[in-house]
Amino acid sequence: MNTTTIIDYLKTSDPSDLFAKAKQIKAETVGNKVYLRGLIEYSNRCAKDCYYCGIRVSNTKVCRYDVDEQSVLDAAEYAWRKGFGSIVLQSGERRSREFMQKIEGLLNQIMTLTNHEIGITLSLGEQDEDTYKRWQDAGAKRYLLRIETSNRMLYEKLHPKNHNYDARLKCLETLQNLNYQVGTGVMIGLPFQTLEHLAEDLQFFQTMDVDMVGMGPYIEHVDTPLFSTVGALRATPLQQVENRLDLTLKMIALLRIQMPTINIAATTALQTLDLFGREKAIEIGANIIMPNLTPLKYRENYFLYDGKTVVKDTFDDTIADLEVRLAQIGAEIGYNLHGDSLHYKSKP
Ligand code: 5AD
Repeated sequence: MNTTTIIDYLKTSDPSDLFAKAKQIKAETVGNKVYLRGLIEYSNRCAKDCYYCGIRVSNTKVCRYDVDEQSVLDAAEYAWRKGFGSIVLQSGERRSREFMQKIEGLLNQIMTLTNHEIGITLSLGEQDEDTYKRWQDAGAKRYLLRIETSNRMLYEKLHPKNHNYDARLKCLETLQNLNYQVGTGVMIGLPFQTLEHLAEDLQFFQTMDVDMVGMGPYIEHVDTPLFSTVGALRATPLQQVENRLDLTLKMIALLRIQMPTINIAATTALQTLDLFGREKAIEIGANIIMPNLTPLKYRENYFLYDGKTVVKDTFDDTIADLEVRLAQIGAEIGYNLHGDSLHYKSKP
């Protein structure tokens, strides 16, 4: 698909053809299974200062935590026993020997505890090659690192000077060279973002030949510079909240058509904008859901954006609810399967 066609689809008020095509391609490739990744938000301590993010280092209102070791292990064991197939360990970015070793230790323990059966995805930011390698040796198979926006100028507008687009890109390449399954993603409906930028993002995923993508709507956080400076600015329809859901769904459908065999996540941010946001995404292209397994007492401190869903139900109830919701759209959970990216598996 060329850029003009993509932009036309992003603009259209009737995406039914696009969605039908994406549904069909999904049915022929990844099928109707949805794979679960139990999300453990390990820590909200972060050295980065991204202008849009609620847990940025300069936000002094945040109560900082590291989930205690036993709780991480309990969450991983829960995921394993429930047949989730895999977990995601996510946290704010920290680069230190201590952090590297802490994660390495956790990975080793999780692998032992789950009989080496659980798949582990990491989402721990930019690290050096040695760190990525050590974590891989300790059991991690996949890594998520969103580029946030593939447009360099927009990236620079959304980050302080010492955050480097090229360094982030380099990390993605390092991860690929190490043979991780690599995922990236972007936010949709950011201030200053245009439809051209979103078309570039889709192009970027293709050029980078990534295995997984997680993209979701940008959602304001009141205690961030982006909100205080441009929070009220609604210059183009792209930034209007009600359009971000639509745009995200269109982006997911376009991506499924463009990269039929990758894994695409239906993100938590989608659910924040619409109670059925994740199910809508699954219907037209996504095949991954990341149920939150962060222990409840830590959860409310991992606020990347406002209104983030903090589920108070038990984990069992959440899964039972998800099963019903998925059944309603003809999808089913792929229990006890890692649900590796078919795209990755087909690489030489
Ligand atoms: N709105 C939506 N997503 C956000 N993230 C961070 N801040 C926001 C926000 N305000 C996303 C980033 C990051 C992921 C963990 O959370 O894309 O990579």
